[in-house]
Amino acid sequence: MKYIIAVIQPDKLDNVLKLLTEKEIHLVTVSTVAGRGRQKGIAEVYRSHKEAGSLLRKVKLEIAVNDDFVQAAIDAILAGARSEHIGDGKIFVLDLPRVIRIRTGEEGSTAVG
Ligand SMILES: Nc1ncnc2c1ncn2[C@@H]1O[C@H](COP(=O)(O)OP(=O)(O)OP(=O)(O)O)[C@@H](O)[C@H]1O
Ligand SMILES: [Mg+2]
Repeated sequence: MKYIIAVIQPDKLDNVLKLLTEKEIHLVTVSTVAGRGRQKGIAEVYRSHKEAGSLLRKVKLEIAVNDDFVQAAIDAILAGARSEHIGDGKIFVLDLPRVIRIRTGEEGSTAVG
């Protein structure tokens, strides 16, 4: 299992969710966050809502998936969020050792999706 964290432009969220849904990836956590990349938030202001100081508003998606859905999730995020301009975002893929569904106590693969 992997835990995929993606930071994207807020206006790409609908695109990305649509493409994830098309790949049968439905379970997702979405947050509004503030962040900065290697331009330190400066050069990118023209396309983003500015938050405090050098931080820009971004959307963070968190998706836990079984291994056979990892590439599909990455492909959906790339296709939905890429504009080829600075600040498009980044995808982090983390190993995920345990998942527990609170309602049933199920663990692992059956608890993920
Ligand atoms: N190394 C990192 N650690 C934590 N968060 C990051 C990191 N890199 C990017 N982010 C988050 O992703 C957001 C978007 O990053 P961004 O797309 O600007 O990356 P970049 O490396 O500057 O690439 P680009 O040159 O395409 O802009 C940042 O505002 C920040 O929230
Ligand atoms: Mg950047």
